[in-house]
Amino acid sequence: MAQHDENVVWHDHPVTREARERQHGHQGAVLWFTGLSGSGKSTVAGALEQALHRLGVSTYLLDGDNVRHGLCRDLGFSDADRKENIRRVGEVAKLMVDAGLVVLTAFISPHRAERQMVRDMLPAGRFIEVFVDTPLAICEARDPKGLYRKARAGELKNFTGIDAVYEAPSEAEIHLNGEQPVRELEAEMLMQLSARHIIRS
Ligand code: ADX
Repeated sequence: MAQHDENVVWHDHPVTREARERQHGHQGAVLWFTGLSGSGKSTVAGALEQALHRLGVSTYLLDGDNVRHGLCRDLGFSDADRKENIRRVGEVAKLMVDAGLVVLTAFISPHRAERQMVRDMLPAGRFIEVFVDTPLAICEARDPKGLYRKARAGELKNFTGIDAVYEAPSEAEIHLNGEQPVRELEAEMLMQLSARHIIRS
């Protein structure tokens, strides 16, 4: 795959990210939810997006299961495919931050290196890592899609937490206890976002 082409030249356009942010009335940022399957990433991100939307924030939620129906439909769960999944989502999130949106992403994103890769793509301070910390035993007991059962039965290979690694973040900006009710996690996120001046309190 071509990394870059010297005949393809970056072009700056007159409407800047700052101008778009002024129009939205807030900064663009990525809230990067990471955690095991069944940890609550999508649920918390969905509830938070609804709350932000009601507050007049321009948002977009990129969800792993949904993105894998389109943009990343050609990818599986090998390490290389997961890396490409996160690279693509990182690039899309970067464009959306440039558009001035508050982007919520819900991907397992099990590898530290890929989360760092996305952090490095974005302007400083615009990548906020949110670790939804839910013990494997709880995720497995919830098993909302029946996938842990299949993985334990050997019907599903490379399943995160069973026979594929999850590298927990050590320095996430926000650390959520995934055993708490969604409403409490949503409230904590809103508090954190106003403390970081992403939304007005
Ligand atoms: S990631 O590892 O590349 O970040 P992503 O978040 O896009 O994963 O997709 C995870 C979702 O795909 C899980 O919530 C689950 O529903 C489904 N899935 C199917 N197979 C696997 C697998 N082998 N490992 C993890 N999740 C899987």
